[in-house]
Amino acid sequence: MSINKKVYKKITTHSLQEMKQNKEKISMLTAYDYTLAKIVDSGGVDIILVGDSASNVMAGNETTLPITLEQMIYHTASVVRAVDRALIVADMPFGTYQGNSKEALNSAIKIMKESGAHSVKMEGGSEILESVERILSAGIPVMGHLGLTPQSIYKFGTYTVRAKEEAESKKIIEDALILEKAGCFAIVLEKIPAKLATNVAKKLSIPVIGIGAGSGVDGQVLVLHDMIGMTHEFSPRFLRRYLNLYEDIKGAVGQYVSDVKNIDFPNEKEQY
Ligand code: KIV
Repeated sequence: MSINKKVYKKITTHSLQEMKQNKEKISMLTAYDYTLAKIVDSGGVDIILVGDSASNVMAGNETTLPITLEQMIYHTASVVRAVDRALIVADMPFGTYQGNSKEALNSAIKIMKESGAHSVKMEGGSEILESVERILSAGIPVMGHLGLTPQSIYKFGTYTVRAKEEAESKKIIEDALILEKAGCFAIVLEKIPAKLATNVAKKLSIPVIGIGAGSGVDGQVLVLHDMIGMTHEFSPRFLRRYLNLYEDIKGAVGQYVSDVKNIDFPNEKEQY
């Protein structure tokens, strides 16, 4: 379906609110480095998330828990240097905001000052409300994140779909309303039933961005490396791969190795 899209030269939290009102879906992708962030921004994505999934994708950790504040700042600053249009959201890493709200505020201020991010994202609902409110009161835009929150993986035990039971689904609705009331500018819903996500998006006036949450929400987010097929071992049902770069890059490397071994590279035109 084609819709009349307003042209935005620069995306702000207000543009996203307007998109929701105009029923224009919001596109969001992750990026963690300068080169890919430049390509993603020029492709026209609305939000670039410097996700703590950098812990898995860039550093090879099993979970998002080990990534540090300094490492998130390094990745975010690299992305900020590349981006002209998209709104940049930096994930607050595990352990930098759950403890107490003063520490949370200091962490958020450090991210904003040292990376140049436009906003931060935090996982959780009522449990982290005091931290969310304190960060918002400093003028820092906050994106919430509910459903499958990977920083709580050891509580959940698996990466399976959340909120299939009534109690958890009720808590997600309550938490989403709490985060909206606190002043969050958007919320990510990860891996929950599409019907529940649609219901949350209808109840909220702020944008709801889904990952594995169906099409009834206000926008979609994917991890870039999954979406372009640089990773190949991770194949959840919700993932659409637009490229198969794992195979393409592997093939190119194989060809290069063979050209070097066979003294085919460099040829006469490729030397001085
Ligand atoms: O860190 C991340 O990439 C995320 C997305 C999956 C939403 O939080």
